[in-house]
Amino acid sequence: MYNIDDSEIIEVVGQEKLEGELIPQGSKNGALPLIAASIAFDYPIKLYNIPNIEDVNILISILKYINCQVDFNKNELLIDPRKIDKYEIPWELASKMRASFDLLGPIVFRFSKARIPFPGGCLIGNRKVDIHLYAAKQLGFEVELTKGDVFVHNFNKSKVNKVINFWIPSVGATKNVIFLAAFAANIINDEILINNIAVEPEVIKLFDFLLNNGFNIEYSINKKYLKVKPFKIKNYTFYEDYNILDRIETGTYILAALATKGKIFIKEDSYSKEYFKLSLMLDSLLSILKQVGFNIEYYNDGIYCAYENTKLQPIDIETGYYPDFPTDLQPQLVSLALSINSVSTIKEKIFDDRFIYVNELRRLGADIDILDNKIAIVKGGNELSGAKVIATDIRGGAAILIATLFANNTSIISNVYQLKRGYENLIDKFNNLKANIKLKSNKEKIYEYRF
Ligand code: UD1
Repeated sequence: MYNIDDSEIIEVVGQEKLEGELIPQGSKNGALPLIAASIAFDYPIKLYNIPNIEDVNILISILKYINCQVDFNKNELLIDPRKIDKYEIPWELASKMRASFDLLGPIVFRFSKARIPFPGGCLIGNRKVDIHLYAAKQLGFEVELTKGDVFVHNFNKSKVNKVINFWIPSVGATKNVIFLAAFAANIINDEILINNIAVEPEVIKLFDFLLNNGFNIEYSINKKYLKVKPFKIKNYTFYEDYNILDRIETGTYILAALATKGKIFIKEDSYSKEYFKLSLMLDSLLSILKQVGFNIEYYNDGIYCAYENTKLQPIDIETGYYPDFPTDLQPQLVSLALSINSVSTIKEKIFDDRFIYVNELRRLGADIDILDNKIAIVKGGNELSGAKVIATDIRGGAAILIATLFANNTSIISNVYQLKRGYENLIDKFNNLKANIKLKSNKEKIYEYRF
């Protein structure tokens, strides 16, 4: 069902309490749209705080393919888009990462057309792109599906609909539509309104980046609308910007520390203000942790989270669109629930198949029922026992790692690649928090997985 890469494994010696300080990485889902957006302009752009993770490196390889110059060094990414000369992305590159579909909007903005492979299946459920394609048609483009590619082209200004209503506040569609709408608004010389947009912090960071680069947009976080007006691109010779912190990476370490009955101090950076402060971006997580009985304290320079009270309450929560509880922390929260001596209920409302990782948790002895593929009933408190497990997807993999950290004995995690897609320096970061984990090359096949 899924490809397993066993070229590397992580060996986890369980039952070490995590303790220490975390300096969060730059956001994965913040970096990808900023990098994609940079190709819409015609001057070099330097982005700071870009995590050195597989997904970023794959996007960089796609940028290089379209002849964008890229230099990535110590979390600083210099993008020079001036020589880009391709508007088509081959399947071999696009299939490595779903988020390559995010290039659709920026490429259309640059070339008035783009050909991008239709995104493939995914391990967390159906991930349709019908809203992206609907919006492209409403904005006056022809959308053709040929040989597995989506071809957006042939803009016709008489076919532009100036009001677009999303039926789901899709993160991906919001990121793409802003470029398509900007292209159309400039030609019809009129404003376009998009209703029911995503307001995830990573999307708002993209809006701010585009505003700084001349886009004439107006948005409301509360009313979830975006107005895109005609504008002239800036005549910059150079632009630089700073990526926001990774709320999902941070949440993962908080949940890992608490599941091992430990404590963690999360260092905020001085750049992140207001909407992008970790304490705000993680409010839904921190609130539920407080309700459960963990100690959460806020400081000017960070957040302290600790297991202190032994009488913890069960977790009862459902995932939702921002500011509700993020689906990308749902698997890790299930692992925390396994460490609590109670029956917790965690509902998945964003994706339709986001419990594949649960089978791997069961291999460690987890008692979890999944109802309708939507609700996890987690019977926590049983001692888990180390086993050979597979990191099924980025966040499912993180959940599995968390469970092995408080399971007894040693566990072996394969498909490490999935964790590397989203977590920078994972091994060092966990070991700095006093975990006992090792990355091992598996060339001699000390471990092999067979179906
Ligand atoms: C982004 C994030 C991902 C996160 C998700 C939800 C990136 C690279 N990925 O994914 O980590 O889990 O937001 O916060 O930033 N949908 C449709 N039709 C569409 C588009 C979406 O039905 O055209 C559905 C999807 O099937 C899914 C839901 O809407 O069930 C959410 O999708 P969306 O918000 O677009 O998430 P992504 O951008 O794929």
